[in-house]
Amino acid sequence: MKVFMVFGTRPEAIKMAPVVRAIDGADGLDGVVCVTAQHREMLAQVLKVFDITPQYDLDIMTEGQDLFDITTKSLSGLRNILGMEEPEIVLVQGDTTTAFAASLAAYYSKIAVGHVEAGLRTYDKLSPFPEEGMRHLIGVLADYHFAPTKRAMSNLLKEGVSKENIWLTGNTVVDALFHVRGRQDASGSGAEWERYFEEKWNLSCPSRFGDDGGRLVLVTGHRRESFGEGFENICMALKEIAERRRNVSIVYPVHLNPNVQGPVRRILGGQPNIYLIDPLDYEPFVYLMSRCYLVLTDSGGIQEEAPSIGKPVLVMRQKTERPEGVEAGTVKLVGTDKEKIVKETFRLFDDASLYERMSTAVNPYGDGRAAERIVEVLEERVLEDLRSGAERPARDRTKLGV
Ligand code: UD1
Ligand code: UDP
Repeated sequence: MKVFMVFGTRPEAIKMAPVVRAIDGADGLDGVVCVTAQHREMLAQVLKVFDITPQYDLDIMTEGQDLFDITTKSLSGLRNILGMEEPEIVLVQGDTTTAFAASLAAYYSKIAVGHVEAGLRTYDKLSPFPEEGMRHLIGVLADYHFAPTKRAMSNLLKEGVSKENIWLTGNTVVDALFHVRGRQDASGSGAEWERYFEEKWNLSCPSRFGDDGGRLVLVTGHRRESFGEGFENICMALKEIAERRRNVSIVYPVHLNPNVQGPVRRILGGQPNIYLIDPLDYEPFVYLMSRCYLVLTDSGGIQEEAPSIGKPVLVMRQKTERPEGVEAGTVKLVGTDKEKIVKETFRLFDDASLYERMSTAVNPYGDGRAAERIVEVLEERVLEDLRSGAERPARDRTKLGV
């Protein structure tokens, strides 16, 4: 059975890599990887770490691309390839425009769609934008739904997806994280990454963590709905934190989006204790996560990774489709209000018992075997559907009111 996997951005690549590897090792499954390259350099970083060579590369990225560009280029690029390859199933991951366009292309070609990381919801279609909308749309087009958590599963059930077409797998990000951490532990590469940060970024904080009350704060940010005022607020908050605590080092691998680079470099450039660095390869990024004091982010994936490393996360967004970390007590939503970001960061600096509570390692997102479970479904249920010529799973139409 041919399994055609499409992804285009850094987080999709990280989360699909374990699936690509598991399919590679499975008898009877023929994996084909197609990247849209919605991201170029940031995708290449991940492909290198996980040693993946795509069979197809649509090479769509342009500076300043918008949602129409990504959608139309991905769709038309996939038309001929899907026609030629004729896979039995297309796998997409998450909520990006690549994932949506690929599921639409598969649907137009009457090919089954499997959705990895299905069922995450805020139920506010503008937050996160456009990811919430994309995820709903993919959910409508998908035949097989791989839900990372019970909550994601119950969201899908509420929306009328029938139980037989949903599998609770855990999130493949945990598989990826365990893989990289395992590799680091086995090779003892911590010292190597410390040297890397010293030599390349003049950043000695990871090795000095804790000595003089100094703190390493890891920051990422890139959400579209925060462009403009939200981003200005985030940057002003970081500036205030750095100015009021000189022994704090803020490390910010800046996303390559010009809408992010602009305000970040303008407002934060030249601050002695703010390190604006290039996006990091996954391995050094995971290392930095394991050495930092806390994480300030608007990322989806980092909300899932940091709790299992035992790091408190302040999420600079109004809403999250990943409430499990908040409920577990390691993640807190702080929005993009400058005062709130500063206040909550200082509370974590100064309130030891709060810090202790938020840094308990918990893992609501899986056990590192999500890809294995997805492959089991492909080998058993999907293959069985194909053999029996069963009509592809449909929604319970009564719940849709039709
Ligand atoms: C995309 C996803 C978002 C995901 C994020 C992960 C959509 C609509 N957005 O947002 O859901 O959370 O990726 O990071 O699917 N760029 C480069 N090199 C790169 C990557 C990006 O130069 O390797 C620059 C380009 O100028 C590009 C711009 O960043 O035009 C924006 O990239 P795009 O994928 O459109 O948006 P993201 O904010 O990255
Ligand atoms: N990440 C990385 N290098 C960085 C920043 C993040 O490898 O410099 C990883 C991070 O560990 C996580 C993923 O990229 O797995 C998150 O990507 P991003 O925040 O861009 O997207 P989102 O998860 O919000 O869609």
